[in-house]
Amino acid sequence: MMEVPVSSKLVLGIESSCDETALAVVDSGKRILASCVASQTRVHQQFGGVVPELAARDHLSQLSQLYKILSKELTESGTAKWQAIAVTMGPGLFGSLLVGVQFARGLSFASGKPLIPVDHVLAHFHGIFVGMRSGGHEPVFPALGCILSGGHTHLFYLHSTVEMELIAHTIDDACGECFDKVAKMLGLGYPGGPQIEKRAAEGDPNRYPMPQVMRRGRNLDLSYSGLKTHVYHLANRLMQQSNDGKLSDEEIADVAAGFQQEAFGQVARKCKLALDALPQVNAIYVAGGVACNGVLRQRISELAAQHSCQSYFPDPSLCTDNAVMIASMGYDLMASGKILSPTRGSPYTKLLSEKISDLSRLTAET
Ligand code: KG4
Ligand code: ZN
Repeated sequence: MMEVPVSSKLVLGIESSCDETALAVVDSGKRILASCVASQTRVHQQFGGVVPELAARDHLSQLSQLYKILSKELTESGTAKWQAIAVTMGPGLFGSLLVGVQFARGLSFASGKPLIPVDHVLAHFHGIFVGMRSGGHEPVFPALGCILSGGHTHLFYLHSTVEMELIAHTIDDACGECFDKVAKMLGLGYPGGPQIEKRAAEGDPNRYPMPQVMRRGRNLDLSYSGLKTHVYHLANRLMQQSNDGKLSDEEIADVAAGFQQEAFGQVARKCKLALDALPQVNAIYVAGGVACNGVLRQRISELAAQHSCQSYFPDPSLCTDNAVMIASMGYDLMASGKILSPTRGSPYTKLLSEKISDLSRLTAET
């Protein structure tokens, strides 16, 4: 356990786990004093996905520039300097994480400020918590948490803002990854999620029936590879049948709408199963890049209303990767005395290895 002064309130957050370099300073996990994000979309666009080596190199050049901008901003506004540094220690691309963690370690060493390792996946929920707290509301627990991002698709049982138990995850592709791949098959740009949402808004979701994956039984795990493969064969068949070997705008819209409907249908089915099994839950938090999607928000809000619980999503600016969520979780870890040593592995890694499948235990505990 690291020694952290209890008076520490301002936390510098550093995020570099995938294709966004981000720095932020947050006061007491609720007031955003500064935040900057440098997206690498232009670097990876031509490859249709993230190239790990290029991502790490870009983080290297962006981090010190962003740091200078952020320091200048805070100095000019007369804000006191941060008292602790929170950094994403995983999961993510190895090279990218290495760049961010070494940068943070250097800052910590030079300034004598404590370093707080933060788990990226769990931190996504703090995109919601920061917004709630800044609006004067404390997050409610116990809660069901759902992370839908480019690399992860997980369900958690949330005890507090720092204690989260993994209860289910995708057995193959992540939800956002599937959106990106389907977008590529349909000839749309990268990242694919926003493109699919846009095209789907004009399409008929029922024109091309999609397979309802993982429908039977009470297993909470999710799967996206079957749906992805189905769209692949469907798109190929439609292209072969067309005169010019291309999909029409109408076909793209209809396939996108059908795919999106089932991608979120599966999320809704699994969340419903979890809510049925966990009657003590009175809130559902959905975060990660895919949580930007308006159709998903609508679907989860309806489900929550049926279970008499509230649903919460991050502000769209805090859905995709950012450092505000890292600083906020860092603050809560610090305040609760639950900081792990960077050498002991991420709490998430530990949770994964102790996967909880017995929901009745969680129900019995409360
Ligand atoms: O959380 P995030 O920034 O990165 C990871 O930690 O993985 O999530 C990025 C993912 C991408 O797969 C992107 O396509 C997806 O979030 N995404 C969306 C939308 N906006 C971003 N998926 C569906 N609908 C959207 N509007
Ligand atoms: Zn993320």
